[in-house]
Parts: sequence; C-alpha cells; structure tokens
Amino acid sequence: MWEEKDIKKILVSEDEIREKTKELGNKITEDYRNNPPLIVALLRGSVPFLAELIKHIDLDIQYDFMDVTSYAGTESTGEIKIIKDLDTPVKGKDVLVVEDIVDTGRTLKTVCGMFLHNGASSVKIVTLLDKPERRVSDVVPDYVGFTVGNEFVVGFGLDYNQRYRCLPYIGVLKDECYR
Ligand code: IMP
Ligand code: MG
Repeated sequence: MWEEKDIKKILVSEDEIREKTKELGNKITEDYRNNPPLIVALLRGSVPFLAELIKHIDLDIQYDFMDVTSYAGTESTGEIKIIKDLDTPVKGKDVLVVEDIVDTGRTLKTVCGMFLHNGASSVKIVTLLDKPERRVSDVVPDYVGFTVGNEFVVGFGLDYNQRYRCLPYIGVLKDECYR
C-alpha cells in the first residue's frame, strides 16, 4: 500500500478493529432489540466503520448520511454548517450516530442537539475512537471502540488533508508528513 511508507506506528490493527466492531455490533443488537435505530453516519470518516458495524447489527435498521463542517473562525461556538442533511425525518426515531472519532465533541454536541430538537425519541453515539483528553463539550459517547491519547491519527476513514482514509488500520504519521 502506498501509504505504509508514511506511517510511524500502528495504533489499532485491522484485526483489532474487526473484533471490536463485532463486539459493538452485538451490544447494539441487544440494546436496540425492541426499537431498531435510525443510524446516522457522519461523512466522510465514518464510512469504513459503518460498513463493518452494520454487518453485526442483527436488526431491521435503516441508515442515512449527514455531512457537516465547522464554520471557519467560529469553531469555539460549536456552530456547524450542514453540507448534506438527512433525507430521513428523525421525529419519533431512536437515532444512533456513527462517528469515526470524538475529539473536542463540538460536532456531536451540536448534531445530537439538533436531532433532539427535531423530535428524535433518543440519541446515542457509537464511535470507533475516543480522544477524551481533548474534550471541551460534555458529550459522552455511548459505545466506544478504542480510546486514544492526544495524538493525531489516520486510517480506517480518518484523514489528514483528505489522504490516508483507505488504510485498513489506525496509525500515526511520520513527522515529515505534516507539511
Ligand atoms: P470534534 O469532536 O467536533 O472536535 O470533531 C471531530 C472530527 O474531527 C472527527 O469527526 C474528525 O473528522 C476530526 N478529527 C479529530 N481528531 C482527528 C484525528 O486524530 N485524525 C483525523 N481526524 C480527526
Ligand atoms: Mg468527522
């Protein structure tokens, strides 16, 4: 793979991701047995995780996508711009948001607040990675794959300037790649 030369270390291997995602899917299947959720995946980073996760959710689920971005300069307010909204109404639904990583938590704080405001019955979060040290909002993900430290990671959907998303594992880039 072309990206391998740029990777300093692997934090979470392909096998570990597969195993953990299966565990999360099984847990979600149990928890939502009587009320299959509307799954909302945030573009673009969550796509590989979503694809792996839904193999293990044995329920009559639906999924939809949303693409949001922070307004430049107003990141601290958590104000976000919707690039692509859901096509599915959330009113009366149990929403399960799928995210690649929860960092400051600003994005999810705003998005989950919107779903509740629009009448969702419940809103929960499943994230492949959690970076709790960086949190500035009170968002607590309900299902977490792996907790990582305060270090920038790429792979399995996560990018650096739109690159490295297709790596099958989570890794850290060599210092000379940040230019
Ligand atoms: P926040 O929780 O609102 O700060 O934003 C989370 C988003 O920031 C994630 O969905 C990623 O797109 C991006 N992000 C945060 N940390 C990383 C990282 O280590 N690598 C790649 N993207 C990251
Ligand atoms: Mg993201």
